[in-house]
Amino acid sequence: MIVLGFESSCDETGVALVETRPGAAPRLLGEALHSQAEMHAEYGGVVPELASRDHIRRVLPLARQVLAESGRTLAEVDLVAYTRGPGLAGALLVGAGVAVALGAALGRPTFGVHHLEGHLLSPFLADPAPTFPFVALLVSGGHTQLMRVDAVGSYELLGETIDDAAGEAFDKSAKLLGLGYPGGPALSRLAEFGDATAFALPRPLLHSGDLDFSFAGLKTAVMTQQRKLGTNVCEQSRADLAASTQAAIVDVLSAKALRALKASGTKRLVVAGGVGANRRLRETLDAGAKKLGARVFYPPLALCTDNGAMIAMAAAMRLERGLAQGSTDGAFDVRPR
Ligand code: KG4
Ligand code: ZN
Repeated sequence: MIVLGFESSCDETGVALVETRPGAAPRLLGEALHSQAEMHAEYGGVVPELASRDHIRRVLPLARQVLAESGRTLAEVDLVAYTRGPGLAGALLVGAGVAVALGAALGRPTFGVHHLEGHLLSPFLADPAPTFPFVALLVSGGHTQLMRVDAVGSYELLGETIDDAAGEAFDKSAKLLGLGYPGGPALSRLAEFGDATAFALPRPLLHSGDLDFSFAGLKTAVMTQQRKLGTNVCEQSRADLAASTQAAIVDVLSAKALRALKASGTKRLVVAGGVGANRRLRETLDAGAKKLGARVFYPPLALCTDNGAMIAMAAAMRLERGLAQGSTDGAFDVRPR
């Protein structure tokens, strides 16, 4: 079976083709992505109306590219998947509209995928892929969650952020440091040259005993340090503050993820979402898991942030298990929240 998947929940237009295989994990046949990050950069964040319009411009050329590069035709597609939410309503409607229209034209069912399930199952696009059960740390721009995953569709929430997401903490701190949008990758690049112990920043909820997170206070702490440094701040101090901020976020994420892993009785931790691309987070988790005799699984680096492959993959994994019949009624329900 071949699944064509569309992702358009925020500022990335992604299209991908995935094939299910009996007895093996589904295989990625082709994938194309357009990031709008540069377009939104001058506004310091995503402008929803501009995002929707750009998805409309990009989505069909990307779909044609994926089909051409994988040597497949639309006639071979068995299921058309799209991101149902969460995300920006107008942006979601573009992917959903195209998917449902294609499904109707081809006489094929369509299926709406939960964006976070896409991230959660994206490590199955890597080799080696994890096996069930596992603990998952989902760290994106909008979400920070720890989950126990026993099977496709069987997810237990163990803990989550009570305010800002980890990616948001990276982005907001980066903005304070004048690093533009999206700030996470820029902040982690600057942090490479900094001393992570230079500034004493809080580790919120580190010893709370539960598996919840809180990052809103960190932004205030970074702002206070930034103000103390004044406007004539030298490059080394900026790098030190970036490194200290990154360390504060990574320390809390890794401590709680490893605690959840230890309590779960499984030996597999899956990390997904944009912040999963962070090098310091990966190093800290790898080292911590090793001590527990466990292993950490990540999606391929390029598939940590939003993409169409994870949406097609999640739909294909559901399809294989009879959990994604899809619909043919031409209706598309997007769920922004
Ligand atoms: O998963 P994603 O692409 O979109 C959402 O679903 O939110 O995640 C985007 C987030 C942004 O906050 C971005 O700054 C962050 O992931 N991010 C990083 C890195 N790469 C992306 N944060 C820290 N270090 C990175 N290398
Ligand atoms: Zn995402």
